[in-house]
Amino acid sequence: MTEYTVEFVGTGETIEVADTETVLSSCIEAGIAQEYSCRVGMCLACSAEIVEGEVTQPAARGLTDDEAEEYALTCMARPQSDLKLDRGKYPPSIEDEEATAAGGDTDGAGGAAADDD
Ligand code: FES
Repeated sequence: MTEYTVEFVGTGETIEVADTETVLSSCIEAGIAQEYSCRVGMCLACSAEIVEGEVTQPAARGLTDDEAEEYALTCMARPQSDLKLDRGKYPPSIEDEEATAAGGDTDGAGGAAADDD
């Protein structure tokens, strides 16, 4: 078992996560307010953008293969390196669904998430 450091950018929160544990379960143990719902990789509530590092998340069925390169479903993701994650960032597919559900009155900002750098 290897432990990796997972930093949540913009929050000052850092935890150690074993490569046998999911990021979410370690968050819950550490008292970090990571959102979640289904805990089976389907709802995307626990999504975080992968700013740096690698995860393995073969059971993250809510993500396309491309999305799984950039986003971690923390209920499924296990670290493969030290990580920097941006919590509460969702893949474009869920934002499209939300825009539709909200009556589509967003300004077409889907996928135009501003980058911090
Ligand atoms: S809690 Fe639903 S996908 Fe992680």
